[in-house]
Amino acid sequence: MLKGKHIILGISGGIAAYKSVFLLRLLVKEGAEVQVVITPNGKEFITPVTLSSLSQNPVICDFFTANTGEWHSHVSLGLWADLMVVAPATASTMAKMATGVADNMLVTTYLSAKEHVMAAPAMDLDMWAHPSTQRNIEQLRRDGVEIIMPGSGELASGLSGKGRMAEPEEIVRRIKEYFSRSRDMEGMKVMITAGPTCERMDPVRYIGNYSSGKMGFALAEECAARGAEVILVAGPVSLATENPAIRRVDVESAVEMCEAAEKAFADADVAIFAAAVADYRPAETAETKIKRENADEMTVRMVRNPDIAARCGMAKRAHQTTVGFALETDNERLNAAHKLEKKNLDMVVMNSLRDNGAGFRTDTNRITIFGRGGSVTEYPLKSKREVARDIVDAMLLQRRGADATADLSDN
Ligand code: PMT
Repeated sequence: MLKGKHIILGISGGIAAYKSVFLLRLLVKEGAEVQVVITPNGKEFITPVTLSSLSQNPVICDFFTANTGEWHSHVSLGLWADLMVVAPATASTMAKMATGVADNMLVTTYLSAKEHVMAAPAMDLDMWAHPSTQRNIEQLRRDGVEIIMPGSGELASGLSGKGRMAEPEEIVRRIKEYFSRSRDMEGMKVMITAGPTCERMDPVRYIGNYSSGKMGFALAEECAARGAEVILVAGPVSLATENPAIRRVDVESAVEMCEAAEKAFADADVAIFAAAVADYRPAETAETKIKRENADEMTVRMVRNPDIAARCGMAKRAHQTTVGFALETDNERLNAAHKLEKKNLDMVVMNSLRDNGAGFRTDTNRITIFGRGGSVTEYPLKSKREVARDIVDAMLLQRRGADATADLSDN
């Protein structure tokens, strides 16, 4: 499964570095091409000769090779890699990663890494429990780093508790899991709505909302990275898409979004409605700027916008899956469950403005997923890209369940 995969193995200075030798061996045996980047302290625990013999590649520690003056480009390393795994990740290395202190080759490479990053922490139990370590781990999670949690047991200090690096076999299992989910949407067509809608009042004013599009764009990148063909129907946002498999349709109003979404939905396997769509629009749009009258009040008559998620939900065919969002401020669960039914969705992703770091404009979100059949799954605060991964994982699981049920009913 790892044949031909380019993996950077980052080793920092902890006693668990000896386990990284076994990890390297397992990765090479699975067919991966591994480039080891080690910190100066890491070299004190494990010799580069052992690592280069096993990886068949020179081990990189310094920015330059002293005798030849050769410069090691962290940028090309970052572009080369399909995955970076930092194991062991010491408290100090994680602190540097969380704050961007690029004073060694490992952290500099981390900052240049384009693809997924995993970190397997290893340290003594008190260091692990320290609030600063926990804060840094939280930050790394928000930045999209996948943390492979340490286990409990006897530690190098002689104390017993949490802090033992995950076993090499477990790390390889997680790496394989990552690569197996990486193309699991190949052949699928996905339509995603994202961002706000702007409802024009006149040539200079509109009614809008605070959506930045970050959640919807993260979903589009996640689906495209996993092999799907994506049509992203985006309201007015200042974001760019990265993956060429994303076709973007820019719209302004709810009516325009509805038209573009319904057109794309006809041919889609999955639709995800992450946009914050205005429920109402001004009944009339003035051709010229509305002038201030000599009155203290102004009334704008509003008319209802189409409910895009509900319209697609009602029109959906057996092979189509619809995922809606519920942005709530109160009665979260009740409202989310109600939207699942009312819009005939297969899944509702609830986010609440009562949670710090969740909802509009933030780089993070905290979600609860409501599935058909009554399942309710809560997730911790994560980066929007990680949240997108959780949503896609849950959606695919739900589709497989539906397929299995369809198979059973066929028989
Ligand atoms: O864009 P960000 O800044 O990253 O913020 C992300 C987000 C908060 C906008 C996103 O996570 C989110 O919650 N999107 C849905 C916001 C919303 O309008 O929720 P709602 O509970 O009002 O709507 C329920 C569902 O119906 C949503 O899937 C919505 O897209 C859809 N809807 C609503 C009204 C309408 N006229 N048409 C729709 O399709």
